[in-house]
Amino acid sequence: MTDITTIRTDDPIIVGSGVAGLTAALGLGSCTVITKSALAEGSSRLAQGGIAAAVGDGDDAEQHAADTVAVSGGLGDPMVAKLVTASAAECIDWLQSLGAQFDRKNGRLALGREAGHGRHRIVHADGDATGAELMRTLRAATVARPQIDVWENTLALDLIRRGDRVTGVLVRTATGQLVAIEGPAVILATGGIGRLYAHTTNPEEVTGDGMAMAARAGATLLDPEFVQFHPTALVSDLDPMPLLTEALRGAGAVLVDESGSRFMPAEHPDAELAPRDVVARANWRRRAAGKAVFLDATLIGDTFPDRFPTVFAAAMDAGIDPRIDPMPVNATAHYHMGGIEVDEHGRTSLPGLYAVGETAATRLHGANRLASNSLLEGLVFGARAAADAGELGDHRSELEPAVVPASAFNVSDEDDAAAVAGLRALMWEHVGVERDAGGLERARTELAALLPRLEEGPTARNLATVAGVAIATALARTESRGGHYRSDFPETDPAWRRHTTYRLQPIADTTLHRAMATA
Ligand code: FAD
Ligand code: SIN
Repeated sequence: MTDITTIRTDDPIIVGSGVAGLTAALGLGSCTVITKSALAEGSSRLAQGGIAAAVGDGDDAEQHAADTVAVSGGLGDPMVAKLVTASAAECIDWLQSLGAQFDRKNGRLALGREAGHGRHRIVHADGDATGAELMRTLRAATVARPQIDVWENTLALDLIRRGDRVTGVLVRTATGQLVAIEGPAVILATGGIGRLYAHTTNPEEVTGDGMAMAARAGATLLDPEFVQFHPTALVSDLDPMPLLTEALRGAGAVLVDESGSRFMPAEHPDAELAPRDVVARANWRRRAAGKAVFLDATLIGDTFPDRFPTVFAAAMDAGIDPRIDPMPVNATAHYHMGGIEVDEHGRTSLPGLYAVGETAATRLHGANRLASNSLLEGLVFGARAAADAGELGDHRSELEPAVVPASAFNVSDEDDAAAVAGLRALMWEHVGVERDAGGLERARTELAALLPRLEEGPTARNLATVAGVAIATALARTESRGGHYRSDFPETDPAWRRHTTYRLQPIADTTLHRAMATA
């Protein structure tokens, strides 16, 4: 008999403790937070450039919204962009009220510049360590609230449903105990899908779990094919790869080839500050042709350790003094524009289920995200989902049995590391910066061959689900747009100016009751 503890709570349950999860938790004030490693781990704490907010002289939310939509490949929703950018100043004030220390110049917030932004509007901390300060602040505020019940080192395995409602989460705790926890709402804040790729800036927690769980429960996914590749990760064997923040290019750093010549001015009128997908592809093509690409940030000179301490440390660890030498760079998987489809309150297509942060697709970014809009989106939608979910009554009906996907009970303790490495390599090779039908078909075949080894892994099964969805939608979109570039369809096709929606085929469920009795 499987030993499952069942718990009922009167407060919403949040899965994930990055910027989006902890903002939702603080908005609710009383809730349960499930997080698979230590509190506040995830991509958020690694953020470098900062938080976009139109708080400088001559700037306003309308301009920020216009820049957001301009780089979105025609798919960013202007209404969502207005909603998010109009809340940015309030988010910065809120963080400061919690004790966040952002960098200042002459007593005012110091503002950086990044690609696609028409103004200096990136609020940052400790130069390029914004995420660390952000998460220090949110973590401290969370642990100060005894009504926020935090379960660290606890893995959410699958969503629990009663009828068409999501009512809870099946989790495996640090001691290996299975717990079915039910409450009035579940908010998924599990981050992106970066670990699907052999080369990524994303840390090990970021494995698409929320998207896969939502898909298995029958939620609608949006735009899974749109993956953002960051143009400047430091070439190294480290996993994740060290990011060289775009703020360096905002401060004047340039991309050069082996001879020290710039190549971006010939690619785009905005050169190194062109939209991220354009710069990433330019780098990728050079490297794919066997050439090296460098980020020359030597103009920053002796101020480097103070202005960009994170990048400085990473470069010095790699044996490069960035004050003197250009740094070798490559494009790297960084961010997922696609995710679980949500409305302006973070509600998914399933009653009782919310999604916030990178796992959600709000239509803010469309096919390509504007730099430093992600932390902001997590703050805005974390708060909005909390406000909505906090109002939900208890709709659970005992007449409906609690069900979970039957596969939740086939999960072993460990992933098959070699199979995961194989999956990450095939995604990088065939579903990366440039795709074509032959490569995508090959990815599909290779994924099918790996599937039996991936399916039982606690994390690998989620990577496999998300990979399958991304491959299918990348094959279907026979055009190039934003982060999705098809070398066999290199043009943007106006007929494809639409979002992709995707739902998994229904899968076998089992009731918790039966699982407890028979497994
Ligand atoms: P995350 O911060 O990734 O948190 C996900 C959480 O979910 C983690 O706590 C994880 O443990 C938990 N989790 C996942 N699966 C499970 C599960 N099954 N069970 C329980 N818990 C689970 N964006 C910007 O706007 N500005 C920047 O300057 C910037 N710089 C970046 C630099 C780097 C190196 C990286 C990687 C990203 C950067 N981004 C930046 C993007 C941004 O950081 C992320 O999009 C954002 O932080 C995502 O926040 P999140 O809360 O959605 O997820
Ligand atoms: C960076 O600092 O370059 C990352 C910013 C982002 O991904 O928004």
